[in-house]
Amino acid sequence: MRIFVTGGAGYIGSHTLVQLLGAGHDLCVLDNFSNSSLEALRRVRQLTNRDFALVEADIRDTATLTEAMSGFAPDAVVHFAGLKAVGESGEKPLLYYDNNVTGSANLLAAMDTAGCRRIVFSSSATVYGEAQYLPFDEDHPIAPTNPYGRTKAMVEEMIRDWTAATDGASAALLRYFNPVGAHESGRIGEDPRDIPNNLMPFIAQVAVGRRAKLSVFGDDYETRDGTGERDYIHVVDLAAAHSAALEYCARTEGCEAINVGTGRGITVMEMVAAYEEACGHAIAAEIAPRRPGDVASSYAATAKAARLLNWHAERGVDAMCESSWRWQSTNSEGYGEKA
Ligand SMILES: NC(=O)c1ccc[n+]([C@@H]2O[C@H](COP(=O)([O-])OP(=O)(O)OC[C@H]3O[C@@H](n4cnc5c(N)ncnc54)[C@H](O)[C@@H]3O)[C@@H](O)[C@H]2O)c1
Repeated sequence: MRIFVTGGAGYIGSHTLVQLLGAGHDLCVLDNFSNSSLEALRRVRQLTNRDFALVEADIRDTATLTEAMSGFAPDAVVHFAGLKAVGESGEKPLLYYDNNVTGSANLLAAMDTAGCRRIVFSSSATVYGEAQYLPFDEDHPIAPTNPYGRTKAMVEEMIRDWTAATDGASAALLRYFNPVGAHESGRIGEDPRDIPNNLMPFIAQVAVGRRAKLSVFGDDYETRDGTGERDYIHVVDLAAAHSAALEYCARTEGCEAINVGTGRGITVMEMVAAYEEACGHAIAAEIAPRRPGDVASSYAATAKAARLLNWHAERGVDAMCESSWRWQSTNSEGYGEKA
């Protein structure tokens, strides 16, 4: 397949490139490197011994995007490009609506021009908002609690409308739970620019000595050990879900939202213990007050992914921590300078 990948230099994108190149697909990556580096793509080429087209551009640059897409003539698009920091989205909502929503509208218009009718979109479990029940299945009400989540919900609706209006179109809206870990080589991984927002990169930076200690926000939740519980998904399993979604889109028409998670929750303290095992030393952690907006538990119903994509997560918490540590301990400053 010829696949056009927006945001392919990022954390999930780079791992998916390895997966897709390994499966023999031909790729064109478009990225503006606002949160990623060329070095990640150099390493993807090294790991796979394969090359791909690269366009440095912004998805909001309609002319460049349309020309790149039409020139490549893809069979399908995988759309990772987006801003993803929940906190920042509250401070700069218009930036998020412009980048994520306007950018996605441009992308669909460019697909129309290029005659491409298949898309796999990076959505998020954030679209569900507070749990009315658990596990979250795909019919759970959509009620995001921050601008980032609202951009994802809006783009989902836009893609659904586009699919309905476009003959033969097919879309998979992948609602990721909490992607973690790294490629088993340790050559590519998550490289947050600022203080990490998420648990795993924070633990990794404490483990490698970049930060003094982890703050555990709340130990009085209704969970096994009182700390918050999330559905962490190994990024390599997530990459494989994209392959499965591309195959699904090739054989179907219509638009489906599909959870991508393991179906199991891991608590903060369980993750810390698994990371200590992986890195071989203690990780300093202190209990801090709960953060407003945090919930006790979140995990996915996985039956739809199994049924439609014939995919399920294979890697457990040990593989998540071991691969993260391999990446972090051999690249303590990530990829170094961005772009
Ligand atoms: N990592 C997570 O926890 C998570 C969870 C759910 C959903 N997602 C979604 O998955 C996608 C990929 O996430 P990630 O963790 O790999 O993030 P990332 O920031 O590492 O990757 C996003 C990539 O998109 C690029 N990009 C951003 N805006 C762009 C624009 N306007 N034009 C061109 N390129 C642009 C960035 O430079 C980066 O390379 C995002 O859409 C994110 O919202 C991520």
